[in-house]
Amino acid sequence: MVDYWRQGSVAVIAVNNPPVNALSYNVRVGLYNNLDKAANDRDVLAVVICGKGRTFPVGADIHEFGQIPKEPWITDVGRKIESLGKPVIAAIHGTGLGGGLEIALFCHYRIALPNARVGLPEVLIGLLPAGGGAQLLPRLAGIQVAMEMITTGRQLPASEAAKYNIIDKVVSGDIVKEGIEFALRVQNKPFQDKILRYRSPHGKDSLQPITEAVLRKIKMRSRGFYAPVWCVRSIANSVKLPFEEGLAQNRIMFQQMQLSGQAKALQYAFFAERSISKWKLPCGGNFATAVPRKIKTISVIGAGTMGTGITVALLSAGFPVLLVEQNKRFLMKGVQTVQSLLEGGVKRRKFTAEQAKMASSSLTTTVDLQALNSVDLVIEAVFETLSLKEDIFSKLDKICKPEAILCSNTSYLNIDKIAASTRRPDKVVGTHFFSPAHIMRLMENIYGCKTSPETVATVMDLGKRIGKVPVLVGTCPGFCANRMNRPQSEEALFLVEEGAQPEQIDQVLEDFGMPMGPFKVRDLAGGDIGWRSRKDAALHLGLTLSYDLQFFNGERYCSLADKLCELGRFGQKTGSGWYSYDKPGSKQLSIDEDVTKLIQNHRDSLGIKPRKITTQEIQERFLFSGINEGFKILEEGIAARPEDIDIIWLYGFGFPRHYGGPMFYASQIGLKRVYDRICHYHELFPYSSHWMPSKLLQKLSIQEVPIGQWAELHSKL
Ligand code: NAI
Repeated sequence: MVDYWRQGSVAVIAVNNPPVNALSYNVRVGLYNNLDKAANDRDVLAVVICGKGRTFPVGADIHEFGQIPKEPWITDVGRKIESLGKPVIAAIHGTGLGGGLEIALFCHYRIALPNARVGLPEVLIGLLPAGGGAQLLPRLAGIQVAMEMITTGRQLPASEAAKYNIIDKVVSGDIVKEGIEFALRVQNKPFQDKILRYRSPHGKDSLQPITEAVLRKIKMRSRGFYAPVWCVRSIANSVKLPFEEGLAQNRIMFQQMQLSGQAKALQYAFFAERSISKWKLPCGGNFATAVPRKIKTISVIGAGTMGTGITVALLSAGFPVLLVEQNKRFLMKGVQTVQSLLEGGVKRRKFTAEQAKMASSSLTTTVDLQALNSVDLVIEAVFETLSLKEDIFSKLDKICKPEAILCSNTSYLNIDKIAASTRRPDKVVGTHFFSPAHIMRLMENIYGCKTSPETVATVMDLGKRIGKVPVLVGTCPGFCANRMNRPQSEEALFLVEEGAQPEQIDQVLEDFGMPMGPFKVRDLAGGDIGWRSRKDAALHLGLTLSYDLQFFNGERYCSLADKLCELGRFGQKTGSGWYSYDKPGSKQLSIDEDVTKLIQNHRDSLGIKPRKITTQEIQERFLFSGINEGFKILEEGIAARPEDIDIIWLYGFGFPRHYGGPMFYASQIGLKRVYDRICHYHELFPYSSHWMPSKLLQKLSIQEVPIGQWAELHSKL
């Protein structure tokens, strides 16, 4: 696992633990023993530590997560380096992360290739860099840089790392050869001042103001997430304590953090993210056997909100796109939006002006569906009307080449119905992007009963190639994401009807860690779309939406959102919604007395006496209603595993990652408690069928089955 060879006076110690040279127990032993070997060889005057294959070590072995690491620890390897009596050079290519960077920091010199990246990402799995990182980095790069890097887990490119002295030299060519050359140059020179433990941290006199500023940022960025705060403490230890004592304190904190629910949740999310690519269809097709089709040309139909965002996502990943609209006016508007989104990407430094120009030149347009006769894949993003989508798909079926794949960006409609309008249902699939589609990373892919494994493999592969997080689910109204979100939005309205204020609900859920409360989300998305579809649904049932409507289709109903829309309060875009805004389109919001009065009048007209609603009730009714739906989604096999649901929530709705996702959150609270509370609300609100407890949840709650066994047990229950 660790190779050793000599080239003249230089010993090379190369970690050889594919695929990422993780610092597992055997690697640490190998490093330790080979350092001894170099120390004892009198002809060795300098040592180079590097990684074989594609990278320098990237940190701990994920298979050892959650266990107490066996000795030698990284700090033991580090002490060996420091006391070797010969200069040690870390030669970094690929990524030097976590324990990998810590070992490099114990070395006397660090060189790196220009495209190498370094970082201490432990915070992202709820931990701190206890292998010396929090003690060494402030001594090398200063407190300010260490705080930023360690509390965010950000990876720095070699050039930026060199600016902060983390890298001594950026080199090009063969990293081992460069390492040896560097070693030959420094082998007989003094290097004691390069041992970081003897330095004092830069900026130590400003520890307090730096700490306060960083804590303020952390509070804004990641409410309720403890690891960054502990990271701040661990860095402060580098100033407050002697080196070895700081290391010992940080190790104690690390062990406490390892046991915390948040670290477990983050590590669960880490593995969940890796598991979603291992999809399986009920027909037996799966990721391992299905081969994706080669996609070179893509067409997007509909240049509205979603179509333009999807186009930008495809263009910026290098795909040529043929954009289709129903007429020239809409097409021109769409092209303008695409251009301004590309310009926005340049401003956000997502890509360079040159790349944006290239992307833009790969865009072609048409108002004639016939032009789609040679494309490999089509993504339809027209209005959410089944008959319109059926019409388009039946036309596409006739126009497109037989092997072309036809995707719909529908958010609710049945994929099987759309597929039935074609003679190629095996090549029809849902690709549900999230708004804004050029930014949001979730791609909820939906298979129908006839979708082929090859089609699924193709859209899963496409998702990855355009930088999205593709998750596969089955078809049902709203699929996984919107189906779970629906009861939550309804509960938010009911809570207001019963006595809560919209801003109170938003605050509670933002304090929980959601990026935005449900009323701010409604204002951002625009209330008019939902209002129109509710009016359509009512019409379909021979009803009209009236203000005193308390039941709709046998379900509890709250007409408050309709009342706002009736007043033209569609949200941010009209300058007023649940909040009022400076001007249309502005994000600057304030609480609106008119809305408060409207809510009060609504309650009065229905004879509802407002009651005090607690934080606990808001959290439970919002989160548990969605979780109950999540268990039904599992029960029906719409999602194959709880991990799929959780990743959908982490990437589609910004659910706080330190809770793992709604399903993991439920497992941490305890299924029995969650089930009991759902039964309680079911008793209180019998006219909201979303409170009907999931049978799967009931069964799993009896034995408190751990989340890793839900999917397996479900198939046996
Ligand atoms: P939109 O109203 O902004 O855009 C739809 C576009 O389709 C319009 O520009 C319209 O002119 C065009 N169109 C209509 N009929 C056409 C035809 N026959 N040929 C060519 N173009 C035609 O709608 P939006 O919001 O982009 O939604 C599109 C689809 O994406 C819907 O199915 C929606 O449910 C889904 N979706 C929407 C999300 C959102 O947040 N807006 C999120 C995820 C999915």
